[in-house]
Amino acid sequence: MGDGVLAYFGYPIAHEDDPERAVRAGIAVVEAVRRLKTPELLRVRVGLATGLVIVGDLIGSGAAQEQAVVGETPNLAARLQALAEPEAIVIADNTRRLVGNLFEYQSLGEVEVKGLAASVPAYRVLGESRLRSRFEALRSDETPLIGREEETELLLRRWQQAKSGEGRVMLISGEPGIGKSRLTAMLQQHLRAEPHTRFRYFCSPHHQDSPLFPVISRLERAARFEPGDAPAVKLGKLRELLAPDTPREEDEWLIAELLSLPGPDHYSAPEISPQRKKEKTLEALLRQLSSIARRQPAMMVFEDLHWSDPTSREFLDLLVERIERLPVLLIATFRPEFHPPWTGLRQVTLLTLARLERSLCTTLVERIAGGMAPLRRDVVDEIVRRTDGVPLFLEELTKAVLEATIAGEDDGRRVVAAVPFHPWLGSPNRESEPRRQRHFRRNQIFPAEIPGSGPTYKGGAYSAAASDTRLFSALGRLPAHSNVVGSTQYAAWSQR
Ligand SMILES: Nc1ncnc2c1ncn2[C@@H]1O[C@H](COP(=O)(O)OP(=O)(O)O)[C@@H](O)[C@H]1O
Ligand SMILES: [Mg+2]
Repeated sequence: MGDGVLAYFGYPIAHEDDPERAVRAGIAVVEAVRRLKTPELLRVRVGLATGLVIVGDLIGSGAAQEQAVVGETPNLAARLQALAEPEAIVIADNTRRLVGNLFEYQSLGEVEVKGLAASVPAYRVLGESRLRSRFEALRSDETPLIGREEETELLLRRWQQAKSGEGRVMLISGEPGIGKSRLTAMLQQHLRAEPHTRFRYFCSPHHQDSPLFPVISRLERAARFEPGDAPAVKLGKLRELLAPDTPREEDEWLIAELLSLPGPDHYSAPEISPQRKKEKTLEALLRQLSSIARRQPAMMVFEDLHWSDPTSREFLDLLVERIERLPVLLIATFRPEFHPPWTGLRQVTLLTLARLERSLCTTLVERIAGGMAPLRRDVVDEIVRRTDGVPLFLEELTKAVLEATIAGEDDGRRVVAAVPFHPWLGSPNRESEPRRQRHFRRNQIFPAEIPGSGPTYKGGAYSAAASDTRLFSALGRLPAHSNVVGSTQYAAWSQR
């Protein structure tokens, strides 16, 4: 659009992490434009907002073809972009909430936005935050844990066995938002008073092609690398981290190499093939781990294996094979589409998390509402019915209803009527397709025709905020099969 670019996230295909993708895309665009070699200095500003928009018929034809977009969100994104400094990424309040603590931000206070009656909070994105797990950055364990007594008991039993020197592996499988991370957080709480070493590894959907990413980022966290550290400083910190286990010089070199650091000064690196080097690196990592575990029992949490890279899986292969002789409990979490090769081994237990029973769901909703506005019985029932026992959805829908109720906009019923699209609804695959279809039928969501692409069920009202209820009801009145698709994520940026 002129000197600007308009990008949607969540339309035509929705992902559970669209707001995060939008911010990452913004960061990448700023960096890419900075690197451009142009006669005149080019700098870019980015504005990002989240909300429901209605995407309608195509306007124009050929390369100039655009789709009509209706809704407050595009306007807000464009205005935020206009007030951003060059090279800044400015995001709206609800986008900020959706990306949690994945990034570092600077509050810009309340800003006046043309076209909106009241001023709105805005934030500048400073960069990616380094120190957190996705669970800590995006979710919370503030509400009490509901149910899961048997799972807790089983985990504690495995920990006792591991502690006594017979290492164990707990595989925790379950759909997004079912409570895998929460269960591991609970175990960490239980063990607070016990002497043990904790290793935490997080796979990330944005680093699946980066070999050993979870291992590397754990080492970087453990050694307390800071973004501005010179390589020599980092190497010093790494050696300090590794020192108590007096690694062989070669191991130190291999681990330094893994972190893209120069090896120790006088060390003359051997000539070895990449394959051999990888094997030796994995051995070095395992030696370090075993040596720590021999001093004190260790709990290792390896999160979200469905996003793991092949080399990390090789690392786990070796660990699982040897764990029985170490006081280590390895807990690995993943979604059902991941098929771990370790099931059936004596030291391995597979735990599949089921959805919460109805009565527990009601308790969860009531606990979340807590001291805030009491929710009407029929609203609670409706939340429970629509969220199908998935704690994350229970939490999100309850919060959306509370916001609307507290803002006095609504008695909650209309928000509940605005069905939250589950994250997995946005990313079709063979296993989730039947569930998607059932969900659509039950909630009377109809396929929308997107010109040129046939019937589709994309976009959605996931994480809808209260102010979107008017749009939702408008959507509800439109005839099924019309060319309308709801979409939650939206971004705009423009070049100057
Ligand atoms: N049994 C439970 N009781 C209370 N809250 C829960 C429970 N299970 C999950 N939650 C909450 O639901 C959200 C999603 O859980 P999470 O552990 O992040 O899911 P997963 O890791 O399986 O994607 C979190 O905010 C978590 O605190
Ligand atoms: Mg998780």
